[in-house]
Amino acid sequence: MSEFREITMARPDDFHVHLRSGTMMQEVVRLTRPWRRALVMPNLEKPILTAEDALRYHDEIERAKRTHGVDFEPLMTIQITKDTSSDIIHRARIDGKVLAGKVYPRGLTTNSEFGVVDYPKELYSTLLTMEETGMVLSLHGEKPGTFSLDRERAFLETLSWIIEHFPRLKIVLEHITTAASVGFVMHGPPTLAATITPHHLYLTLDDVIGTTLRPHNFCKPIAKYPHDLRALRSALTSGNPRFFAGTDSAPHSRERKECDHGCAGIFSAPTALSLYLDAFEEEDAFLIASPFLNEYGARFYGLPPIPDQRWIQLQKKTWNVREMETRCGVKIFTANEMGDVHWNVLAS
Ligand code: NCD
Ligand code: ZN
Repeated sequence: MSEFREITMARPDDFHVHLRSGTMMQEVVRLTRPWRRALVMPNLEKPILTAEDALRYHDEIERAKRTHGVDFEPLMTIQITKDTSSDIIHRARIDGKVLAGKVYPRGLTTNSEFGVVDYPKELYSTLLTMEETGMVLSLHGEKPGTFSLDRERAFLETLSWIIEHFPRLKIVLEHITTAASVGFVMHGPPTLAATITPHHLYLTLDDVIGTTLRPHNFCKPIAKYPHDLRALRSALTSGNPRFFAGTDSAPHSRERKECDHGCAGIFSAPTALSLYLDAFEEEDAFLIASPFLNEYGARFYGLPPIPDQRWIQLQKKTWNVREMETRCGVKIFTANEMGDVHWNVLAS
């Protein structure tokens, strides 16, 4: 374990976040502070499907940011469905400044009814246009129709097909949860990368269903075996630039989590950065933390370096998220029962 008490680094980027809309967005944006940029997912109840949708959503986020004095830059996505035409992709790239197109597995996660089941049949020409236009393919890698614990592994076959047919398409396998995915990305082409969430660095399936049912630890893809967790931590600390931060912070009200048919999603916006740092520290790999958080993802997405990059200063000091949680009504993810978090933003 390192003896770091204070660190200063370039502000981090979150390459996978759910900001929602309306009242929920107000709370979420208010609590989404330390990030320089955030790639915003499109799975709203009425999904973001076109350049126009993305621009409207971007405006809503900007308004919420102004209200709460928050200054991350939102990077936009659209959801790719079987009806996404070539024209939609071109316009999203040019008019909507959309960076990535996200594909969901139909019916497997929050607002995924427009998801895809059969990639070759439903998405062949769409993926060609994405490849041509440089739109990054962002994948929720689970295969519909397979047993829940096997879905991510089964999806790797689909992923192989995509890589084989679209060799220039940049692909991000989001929120990976298995040793199989870690191995696949490690040995994959330079066009393939993966995001790792903070919660998957702490949870196994036992933390969801091992004793009592823990709905606030329930997310998709669900946390898996201890050996998968170890593989994720080794990917995290490998210094391989094709693994980078994407929190998948996904808020749902308590009522929608603590019920029959509870929603999948873990809200980590206020604690994610601290949890990543703790994991790096626990693994004695603190020097990889900064590039994982602020360099590898930007490089993969081809984002230009920002000349006036601001710095963030963090101090090791325990604080408790419970009060914050009561105010916003959404359970905030921490790695321990008390709600203690160890790293604190001093200045940004
Ligand atoms: C996400 C959500 O709630 O929008 N939920 C989740 O469990 N990760 C959707 C998603 O990314 O699958
Ligand atoms: Zn997500």
